[in-house]
Amino acid sequence: MSNRKINVGIVGCGFVVDYYLDTMFKYKELNLVGVTDIINERSDKVSAHYKVPAFKSAKELIENTQLDILINLTDPHNHFEVTKLAFEHGIHVYSEKPITMDIKEIRGLFDLAKSKGLFLSTAPCNLLSSAAQTLLKAVKDNKIGTPRLAYAEMDDGPVHLMNPEKWKSKMGIHWPIKDEFEVGCTLEHIGYVSSWLIAMFGKVEEITAFSTCLDNHKCPGLVEPIDSPDFSIAILQHSSGVISRVTSGIMAPKDRSLRVVGDKGVLSVEDTWDNYCPVKFEEYTSIKLKAARKTFISKNPIARMIFGLGKKTITPIKRKFSLNPFHNNMEMDFCLGIVDLANAILTNGKPTFDNEFSLHINEVSLHTQYALNKSAVKLGQNKNVERIVIS
Ligand SMILES: NC(=O)c1ccc[n+]([C@@H]2O[C@H](COP(=O)([O-])OP(=O)(O)OC[C@H]3O[C@@H](n4cnc5c(N)ncnc54)[C@H](O)[C@@H]3O)[C@@H](O)[C@H]2O)c1
Repeated sequence: MSNRKINVGIVGCGFVVDYYLDTMFKYKELNLVGVTDIINERSDKVSAHYKVPAFKSAKELIENTQLDILINLTDPHNHFEVTKLAFEHGIHVYSEKPITMDIKEIRGLFDLAKSKGLFLSTAPCNLLSSAAQTLLKAVKDNKIGTPRLAYAEMDDGPVHLMNPEKWKSKMGIHWPIKDEFEVGCTLEHIGYVSSWLIAMFGKVEEITAFSTCLDNHKCPGLVEPIDSPDFSIAILQHSSGVISRVTSGIMAPKDRSLRVVGDKGVLSVEDTWDNYCPVKFEEYTSIKLKAARKTFISKNPIARMIFGLGKKTITPIKRKFSLNPFHNNMEMDFCLGIVDLANAILTNGKPTFDNEFSLHINEVSLHTQYALNKSAVKLGQNKNVERIVIS
């Protein structure tokens, strides 16, 4: 293979930029040629710290470098214009999620990319992690027989109770509380698991979804009330026939686990954000299944051992990570998707997050986010059901 590097440039130097720059320089395929932010102070600071040229605008960055990939790290409300600009200049795009907040805009960008033969690749990229690849292989290798069902939790914890106003990036940028609440946790997070589910079980053919805002005034004194959903549930019917259920929220404590249920057992990952999370396997036998239903057995460690109720760890697939597992408390390597795209360009191949896959993940996110409770059936007629009061 030639030693050609792929020129990448970053637009948007806010909270998240350090996550990318933490690992970017370790990838020999990537050559960061410049950064920019409409708040020039931010890109200047990144430029000084990481020793990379800063430009006054996205246009200036594009016009003064030979960009192959524009990395769009602007806030979601600004994604559309920046991605469109890149495509108009014949540059591939790796976009933070969501591609935009509007499905018509996303389809427009998808068509524009197609007409120009360009890639539109999207975050999140934890599908490329060792944990995800190990799970995908175990499912493909028939470890659990025919998969039937998957349960994915994407609860990020009640962030408003964790002093988010004090969260700052390495470059000193505050976590954008208002923007995060406005965009909402479904658009921000569901892709971290929907990408795994779609990769394993195929395209989503039907969605039944519910979303709502449980608390519209989470940080009084800091941000005005915001009505974007902070809780959603989506039932996804995949082309393979598997049904998956995804819950996204920022009200319940952190739970980012995923379970895949098949005819021969269950595969599970405790934390889908952890690139190195072990994949566990519980094999079914009728004795084990019956034993697990008996409380006195399932609560007793010795009885559990006798009945073989433990989980086994699947041998992990080793992936080329630049990230040390104990690196800065960050379990995720944000550059995996960019490297994957760069390698696709270098080899005339296709990235894992190709245009169709990226569009589809975003369709699922947007349908879930905007489901609200439109299809709810009102059960108000029965007035005799009362709350039970414990005396
Ligand atoms: N905040 C997080 O914890 C987090 C984590 C993972 C992914 N993300 C995603 O990363 C993206 C960025 O998030 P963030 O938290 O860094 O937001 P942020 O608001 O901190 O940063 C966005 C930056 O983009 C700049 N910008 C906006 N329009 C621009 C334009 N046209 N040209 C140049 N710069 C422009 C803004 O000035 C700002 O500095 C979002 O899509 C978000 O969903 C955020």
